This record gives sequence, structure tokens and C-alpha cells, in this order.
Amino acid sequence: MADEDSSPISGLYPYAERFGVIDRLPEKGRARDEILAELRTMATEEDGFWQTGQCSGTMYCGDTSHYAFLNEAFNLYSHVNALQRDICPSATRFEGEITAMALDLMHADAVKEHHPGESPRGSVTSGGTDSIITAVLMYRDKARADKNITAPEMILPKTAHPAFEKGAHLFGLKVVHAPVHEDTTLVDMDFVRANINENTVMLVGSAGNYPYGTIDPIDELSALALEHDIGLHVDGCLGGFILPWGEQLGYDIPPFDFRLPGVTTISADTHKYGFGLKGTSVLMYRDKSFRDHVYFMTPEWPGGKYNSPGIAGSRSGGLLAAAWASMVSLGREGYLRYAKAIFETAFAMQKIVRAHEELHMMGNPTFCFSFTSDRFDIYHLNDFMHGRGWRFNGQQYPNAIHMCVTRPQTQPGVVEKFATDLEAAIAYALDPPIEQPKSGAIYGGVPKDVPGVDELVKNILVDYLDRCSDVPAR
Ligand SMILES: Cc1ncc(COP(=O)(O)O)c(C=O)c1O
Repeated sequence: MADEDSSPISGLYPYAERFGVIDRLPEKGRARDEILAELRTMATEEDGFWQTGQCSGTMYCGDTSHYAFLNEAFNLYSHVNALQRDICPSATRFEGEITAMALDLMHADAVKEHHPGESPRGSVTSGGTDSIITAVLMYRDKARADKNITAPEMILPKTAHPAFEKGAHLFGLKVVHAPVHEDTTLVDMDFVRANINENTVMLVGSAGNYPYGTIDPIDELSALALEHDIGLHVDGCLGGFILPWGEQLGYDIPPFDFRLPGVTTISADTHKYGFGLKGTSVLMYRDKSFRDHVYFMTPEWPGGKYNSPGIAGSRSGGLLAAAWASMVSLGREGYLRYAKAIFETAFAMQKIVRAHEELHMMGNPTFCFSFTSDRFDIYHLNDFMHGRGWRFNGQQYPNAIHMCVTRPQTQPGVVEKFATDLEAAIAYALDPPIEQPKSGAIYGGVPKDVPGVDELVKNILVDYLDRCSDVPAR
């Protein structure tokens, strides 16, 4: 069973056998119908993989009529460049209103209570990583301007998304990694407290973090940030558009937003639980003075006085229109309804995991949960579940696998299949036919049939893109 491959893609040249490989512009353009048929074939087959509801995260809405509606909205603006606002005032409307709706969800009204005179603002970026690296750039430049800090540092929980490290790498910040408590998976606040120094420009907390879905003690981080007059970024890329509904539904979700006076920026992804199309996220600032640091202007360029509001230059008007359309079409009632089903499904799946003494839940999660085992390598269980069509995300230190519950899991029968398959997977993992599991802790897409982690890492980092462009001879 574990040997069966349920993934639609394998090998380094996907679809080469059926459609060939293109390595230069075709001499003559191909017929549109033919191209669309090819695209449709690949899309339909790939959609079939997650539409079963057995794929963790990534497909947040899963509702084909919602996607069709968003595509119609996208279609009207797909050709529009949101950098050229004079010819598309609608983009200003979309971005302004997306930001306003997100700020409202993050209780930006509370800012006025704590910091009278401050005005919360935001902007739409291309995704979670973009929002996070933009925040890192902002904190670096703000600290340089306000405090003359030239060797900036950030304190980063071990569980925080790699986008922060990417930002630190790009913009020259030192990263101080804070450990997390083994039992709760939450950041060690004593470590954070002890490691703040005169160069610390930002703290980070996740609501929730990607590996375990747990929520750092943002209230304590907020108090520390205020005490030391430093920034606090809350990474709500994953949880920002679902946790507020969980709180409203009465689940135990601590405040993580602008109600906490030390929270200075929040990222929340419209392309995750905002149910928009891929390619948008919202970065929110406690005050517009923070955002001023990410505007880039260069007035002397021969091409004109250049001015962009973030890292990107040209941006898609279509994606802004689709994110806006998603939010206003669902409204509070729609988001709450979807969230209720997601939370109920996530807790039902967690109950199934907790019923097995061989398995161990990581911390106290909500919509996204992770589990491990001290009886066997959890990747044996993962191998078996993969053979039954499941795609979990792999964690390491310790080895664990996670399920980020989205709407496709709320379909009838998915929880029941999870229960049945998990039971069989435990039996397999307790007595696996092979010593080394085939799966491992990899984030993101990888060529499938590459044995051994070292080989795999080599393939991803060194060979993969090279080989994709170094196409076989015609
Ligand atoms: C908690 C968290 N932060 C940031 C990101 C990065 O988002 P993106 O992949 O949209 O860049 C993710 C992605 O899953 C995430 O889960």
C-alpha cells in the first residue's frame, strides 16, 4: 500500500512523455484550443489530487464555484498594472478596502485607545513572504532613522516562518533564534527577555506558527516590546483570516492583534484563509509612520520620479480585484460559516489522533495540528498515509507531520477516512517492512523519486532548476 504513488507528478520533467518538453519559443504559435486543452488536462488531473480532501493546507477554499467567480473578477483586471494608479483608480479602491477590512478584523480601532494620534494603515503584497520581508525592511530602516541602529537584530522563535530569515539575509539583520518549549511548542519568553539588547529592532510571534499551528504568547511579547520600545511583528499569514472567527465561535484563542498595545505590525494572507487567488497578503501597521519606511522613491531617474509602495514594482490589478471580491462576497457571515466547519473538522481529526496512545499531539493547536510518535518514526506512518492518498507536511526536530485543515477536509467522509487510514498506518509503522522511511521533512515541492535526504537536498538546491532547463535532446 505504502508503495502506491497517488501524486500526479513525478520525475524531473513532468508531463514530458505526454506533452514533450519546450526548450525554446515555438517557431509558429500553437492553436489556442490545443493549448487550452493541454492546460485543462494538467489542471484537472492535479486538482483531482487535493479535491479528495486529503491534502494538508495550500488549497484553502476548494470551492470551484468560488474560484470561477474570483477568476471572473480577475479576468476584468488581469491586464491592469496597479503601479499605474492614474489609469486604474479601481486598484486604489480595492487595495484600500481590502486593507480596511483586514485592519477591522485585527481590531485596529483599539490602536486609538492605546496610542491616540496614531493611524493604522496597511498595504497589499504578493504573499506572506513578501509581507514579512517588507516588515523586516521597515523595522531595519525605522530603527536606523529613529535610533541610529546600524547593526540591527531580531529575535525569532524557532518555529517562525523562514521568510523572516530570508528578510534578515536580504537586509542584513542578525537573527537571534529563540527556542520553544518542548511541551507547548511556544516561544521561550525567558530567552527572549534575556536576549533583547540595544540593537534589537524587532520581536516576532506567530498566530499561529506553520509547524504546529500553535499561537505564541503574543500578550507577553507585546508587554516586552512596549517595555523596550521595539517593534513586534505578529505573523498571522496563516491564522490571521481564520483565528478571529475561532475566537468568535468560542474556541480558546488568545488575543494576538492590535488589541495588544505592543503589536506594531501584522501580516495576514488573503491568499490563504482569506480565500482569494494566490498572490496576495495584507501587511498592517499600527501607524502610518511605520509604513513610510517601505515607500521607495527616487526622484532623479530619467524615466520619471519613481515611487513604489513596497518591494514589488508592477502589480496585478486582477489579484487585487479577486481578493476584494472574495472578501466582499463572503462577508462576516460567510467567513464564520466556513471557519466553523474547519474548526469542527480540525478538532474531530485531533480527537482521532489523541485516541491513539502511539501518537502525540504537538502543543495545543486549533485549525492546524501536528503530531509525532515516540514509538516509531512518524515518517513510516506518513509513507503509508501517502499510499492512501494523504499529503501531510513534514516537520523535523522532532520529526512530526502536520495537517492544516482547510475547506476540502470538511467534505463528508474525509474525517472518517482519516480515522480508518490512520489506524492502519499505525499498524504499518509499528512493524514497517523497510528500515528507512521514504518520506522526510521537506517544505515545498520537490521531485518525488529521489532517494535519501542528502541526495534530495542536493537535488533541490543544486540540480533541480538546472535539470529542468537542461532539457533532454529533441
Ligand atoms: C505562518 C506562516 N507565515 C508565513 C508564510 C509564508 O507565506 P507565503 O508562502 O504566502 O509566502 C506561511 C506559509 O505557509 C506561514 O504558514
